[in-house]
Amino acid sequence: MAEEFQGLWGGRFTKETDTLVRKFNDSLSFDKRLFFADIEGSLAHSSMLSKQGIISEEDGKKIREGLLSIKDDVTSGKLKIEGDYEDIHSFVEAKLTERVGDAGKRLHTGRSRNDQVALDMRLFARSSVVEIRGLLLELLDTILSIMKDNVDTTMPGFTHLQKAQPITLSHHMGAYFEMFSRDCERLTGIYDRMNYSPLGSGALAGTTYPLDREMTAHELSFKGPMRNSIDGVSDRDYLLESLSAMSIIMMHLSRLSEEIIIWNSDEYRFIELDDAYSTGSSIMPQKKNPDIAELVRGKTGRVYGAMMSLFTTMKALPLAYDKDMQEDKEVFFDALDTVKSCIILTNGEIKTASFNKERMKASAGGGFTNATDAADYLVKKGVPFRDAHGIIGRIIIYAIEKGKTLDELTIEEYKGFSESFDNDIYEAIDLKNCVDQRKTTGAPGRVAMLESIKKEEDFLLSLHKLQDTLVGK
Ligand code: ARG
Repeated sequence: MAEEFQGLWGGRFTKETDTLVRKFNDSLSFDKRLFFADIEGSLAHSSMLSKQGIISEEDGKKIREGLLSIKDDVTSGKLKIEGDYEDIHSFVEAKLTERVGDAGKRLHTGRSRNDQVALDMRLFARSSVVEIRGLLLELLDTILSIMKDNVDTTMPGFTHLQKAQPITLSHHMGAYFEMFSRDCERLTGIYDRMNYSPLGSGALAGTTYPLDREMTAHELSFKGPMRNSIDGVSDRDYLLESLSAMSIIMMHLSRLSEEIIIWNSDEYRFIELDDAYSTGSSIMPQKKNPDIAELVRGKTGRVYGAMMSLFTTMKALPLAYDKDMQEDKEVFFDALDTVKSCIILTNGEIKTASFNKERMKASAGGGFTNATDAADYLVKKGVPFRDAHGIIGRIIIYAIEKGKTLDELTIEEYKGFSESFDNDIYEAIDLKNCVDQRKTTGAPGRVAMLESIKKEEDFLLSLHKLQDTLVGK
């Protein structure tokens, strides 16, 4: 058999692989995204091999120079990642051998593609997690600035999509701030757990060469080597965790998108999307559609799908490596690209949107959002809460019949329902007062909200600081 057909494992074979089998088996078309991680891993592996005397200093040097020249050529576009190679690992090794001869063939000493791919994917996932985290921080910056600008922007809070109690836009956006900051912290945890090196696990059982796994782990900025070589080649938990975190991020983005879609509707008009972030209709000239929010909502299914796909792939795999695991890549890459673009676009969309404060305030004024406060007023006058609830309920039926809001009823009308009402009822149900009286931690009242914002600011700063260290690695 001709040398060029042998690839990485032709020695044992007397016949060429069937063309369809090759097409089905090969992964270069997608695992080329691991190119830089593959080079990084091989640089560390070759330095360690020569330091340990497993290969000569001279071969080590040739390998490293060869790898760097391949990296440069791919970066400049001089060398394209294509051709008849099974995967990115075969591609790099073949190019290296073309450039540096026999030294190139020594690179794979004490290494298997099983630990190589485990390493490449881990390096790739680790930087992906940092990237997503960085984008979330930009989104959090935007949300916090909307919060700061809208401490006094009264709006209705909803349950069952029915007006419930008055809140502020600052408070509402604060809920999203919490969600996305939890997402950030989740990614930090995942980062910490995945930050161990599988390199040196070999095919599954380590190797007989005196590898220094601490050295390669250190060089690749891992906390240390993975402790079990079987786990080293067969663990994909870090991808599952990342996909789960991405699914949760998408769920949060999707909830926000759904609200943007509702708020942008003609019935609500709480928000006006910037022209740059909306699209028109080919037939209806009046339309300004929230396509971006709809696409984010729609793409959520795709990311959940990626997560379920990999969970299903992994569920019955016997230890250690199985080729099924090659299926981790396309779904992960697709989910990653999707999540990144969805965060970026949502950020731009809310940053450029204008909030219709008057509409929000007017909407909070209708729908009896101050009914709870009216009941609480009676409680303060000594009426038991259950009775107060009943009295206000009857007043609301009456007000609906009269086409009035609670503020518009006269004191005589109030007194008709209970002698406990006085003129101070109007102050108690004034919307701004209703909001500001909610002073408990986490509530929308001005004082509590300013307190939350202060805490969120400090917290966001600490998240940014950690990001700087993660990016610096
Ligand atoms: N393309 C393979 C993957 O993604 C690389 C590892 C191949 N190892 C093997 N023993 N066939 O998993």
